[in-house]
Amino acid sequence: MASAVAVIGAQWGDEAKGKIVHFLSREADFCVRFNGGPNAGHTVVDEYGQARLHQIPAGALHPQCLGVLAHGMVLDPWVLREELLALRAQGRPEPRIFISERIHLILPVHRLREEKEGVAAKLGTTKKGIGPAYVDRVGRCGLRLLDLWNDEYLREKIFSEHEPLGAIDPEQVLNDLLSFRQEFEKCIGDGQALLSQALATGKRVVFEGAQGTMLDVDFGTYPYVTSSMTTVHGIPGGTGVWPKFAAVVGVTKAYTTRVGIGPFPTEDRTDLGERLRKAGQEYGTTTGRPRRCGWLDLVALRYAQRINGFTHLALTKLDVLSGFPEIRVAVAYQLAGRRVEDFPKAFWELERVEPVYEVLPGWRKEIRGIQDFEDLPKEAKEYVRFVEEALSVPVALIGTGPEAQALIVRRELWS
Ligand code: IMP
Repeated sequence: MASAVAVIGAQWGDEAKGKIVHFLSREADFCVRFNGGPNAGHTVVDEYGQARLHQIPAGALHPQCLGVLAHGMVLDPWVLREELLALRAQGRPEPRIFISERIHLILPVHRLREEKEGVAAKLGTTKKGIGPAYVDRVGRCGLRLLDLWNDEYLREKIFSEHEPLGAIDPEQVLNDLLSFRQEFEKCIGDGQALLSQALATGKRVVFEGAQGTMLDVDFGTYPYVTSSMTTVHGIPGGTGVWPKFAAVVGVTKAYTTRVGIGPFPTEDRTDLGERLRKAGQEYGTTTGRPRRCGWLDLVALRYAQRINGFTHLALTKLDVLSGFPEIRVAVAYQLAGRRVEDFPKAFWELERVEPVYEVLPGWRKEIRGIQDFEDLPKEAKEYVRFVEEALSVPVALIGTGPEAQALIVRRELWS
């Protein structure tokens, strides 16, 4: 009984995955984050207001859905507390969460190291300690959540790593971690065992990818990437289960954005790019940084499709394109006088490509909040069909505004 749905960013992150995950989780039993940490900022706008989720799975906003933080993530316990407090302040029901005991912790030392090593300036990282925490994981010197139950080991580790820095009080770090242990003890356990059981018994499980395919540590625009596996391949590694997916949903905006440094072939540095930024409110959820904006890139999307095997697409923020007289879509690149259809693997090649655009007619009508495909203007429908034909993947969901209900559902995804 196939009962798993994956939601994966098809671009450079910020594709409005939070809204799609929230929608697909309304009848799910579990919603699982498997990569990244508080570098993510998944936004859901519902009857309680705007929730900005960094580590709590978006599906956990539904009372029946258990949010699982699987071991492929890196967890910042301090941020998790803040997130829960912010949700409580909105008067929401307490989200139910479960944290894998194998998860690696982000400690104050990781944020400090990121700052000292200057990677934020070099790569435009989010300064959340993500890279250093993953480095410690593969370097076999990280601290896992289950280590909080070994008092002696914990004290030694916290003191040996924080004391020499001088800037952080190790006793405070230790006390915070011990109180986290006490507060969250009931929701910590074996995530792999939980998810194996869930899948074996036909429970509905949504896997919520963070960041996007182009930020994947292997398949992305290396080194301008994050430190985790952001594609569908991150799911088995980051959870320990290998589901048979009912759907793998690639989420793409109707245009493209990127935050941070690195190649971005369809970036529009003219007034049009600025207009996209304003219309789409393209400012980072986690860092507040203005996002770089540009046009849809079919070369990159075809590559994301090949890597992830999307069965469906969710095309988000279509309403942002209303009012543009024409819409550009990159269908290929030019590189050193040659036409290129495949996404270059090297950043130094990608930096030199020129997009080959096809220009489609825009539409004037405001489409925000539309829920029925037939209510879209002809040009908007044509744009959607153009994308699905170019990628040979049906567009199942279309976002027409930030609110949860501003969504066109063309196909149900649960089998
Ligand atoms: P890090 O994940 O903080 O190490 O940052 C590495 C790169 O990934 C930077 O370019 C960030 O801007 C980008 N990044 C990380 N998380 C997100 C996200 O959730 N959305 C968009 N970009 C992200």
